[in-house]
Amino acid sequence: MPDENSIIQLEEVFKIFGPQPRGRAFDLAKSGVHKNEVQKQSGHVVGLSDVSFSVQKGEIFVVMGLSGSGKSTAIRTVNKLHDVTHGQVLVDGVDVQQLEGKELQAFRREKMGMVFQHFALFPHRNVIDNVAYGLKVQKVDKNEREAAALNALRLVGLEPYADNATSELSGGMQQRVGLARALASDPDILLMDEAFSALDPLIRRQMQDELMTIQGEVQKTILFITHDLNEALRIGDRVCIMKDGVVVQIGTPEEILTQPATGYVAEFVQDVDQGRVIKVEEIMVPPDPLQIDADFDEVVSALAAVSEKLVVDSSGKFAGLVTRSDVERVATQGVPTLASALRTDVPIAAPSQTLNELYADAGKGLPIACCNEDGQLVGRMDPTAVLEELGRVEALADAFDREVYM
Ligand SMILES: Nc1ncnc2c1ncn2[C@@H]1O[C@H](COP(=O)(O)OP(=O)(O)OP(=O)(O)O)[C@@H](O)[C@H]1O
Ligand SMILES: [Mg+2]
Repeated sequence: MPDENSIIQLEEVFKIFGPQPRGRAFDLAKSGVHKNEVQKQSGHVVGLSDVSFSVQKGEIFVVMGLSGSGKSTAIRTVNKLHDVTHGQVLVDGVDVQQLEGKELQAFRREKMGMVFQHFALFPHRNVIDNVAYGLKVQKVDKNEREAAALNALRLVGLEPYADNATSELSGGMQQRVGLARALASDPDILLMDEAFSALDPLIRRQMQDELMTIQGEVQKTILFITHDLNEALRIGDRVCIMKDGVVVQIGTPEEILTQPATGYVAEFVQDVDQGRVIKVEEIMVPPDPLQIDADFDEVVSALAAVSEKLVVDSSGKFAGLVTRSDVERVATQGVPTLASALRTDVPIAAPSQTLNELYADAGKGLPIACCNEDGQLVGRMDPTAVLEELGRVEALADAFDREVYM
């Protein structure tokens, strides 16, 4: 049954890999036999077994599962990189399995942008040419495609890098170019397969945040694949959990956490107590400190824009914190210095610490200085960020009836 509000719909989809996909392997899978047993009996691999889900317009739908669970296979049925063995895939009302050749290409180009873990950028072309490439293929004229590419770069925060070669960019920036490229043709649907999985945790979280911000502006439908439940719960409006080619549960993050459908999901969820697993290094931001020997005028002007700043000594070691009111207080003294305004009662954390260890510190309301073993200041965390992160998880965990599965 086509669902009115859905833009992507998989209906009882089976995908069997092997020389005779519609033979005995399919019969076995169809009668509910586990993929390992199907493989043993038929030598065929079950990619998807009776997979149905429907993605609503404008939502971020995340498919989550361990390696080999069928996530990539599922996303590939949507753009028909894979034929299906059985079942139907509807994209915006079109049965994609029926499309061939030019029609299929045109449909992909118009309807969907794709971002993958290793996005193949042209290393020697500049950023804007990479982003505009798809439009060039579509023979969009130069001015129009550059305007579209610049807009896409603006969305991902890379407008200033339009003329750089992509080989000059960091991994995170290259992934943003990939995202901009997918956005440039303004497709209704974004297909993202492990798009952030190769990134450092900190950059990865930034990208998740940015994706959500961009989504707020462009309102695409996003089918996002990940093997990381934290990522899924963080960005998904709904999450579909897969195991061994089968859908185990589909629900909002709250539903997944509070009503795990099976012991398998429950086990995953147990690992999600994020206060325990989120490390300081994942949410700290660049410290942007003042030098202890800075001119007082410089200190005053730095504190015009923000209410406090962390301070380092000449070797980059953490020295303390200065607030605007402390600066105003010492400004009336004879020769005001930063050192005389410095506070040292500031909480300090190591990048490898986990957030739940910092609850009390965050409660002080001061920023937390993140220092490495040598005392070098490597980041800062605002107490609200810590509390928000923990609060969100607690709100979810509060409702979580552990007795369901313990
Ligand atoms: N082209 C193929 N030929 C044969 N088997 C395949 C093919 N592609 C996928 N499979 C099998 O289908 C199953 C699902 O694979 P899929 O790539 O969809 O997993 P995944 O969930 O994306 O895993 P990962 O997290 O490792 O990317 C696996 O058992 C895999 O071995
Ligand atoms: Mg995959």
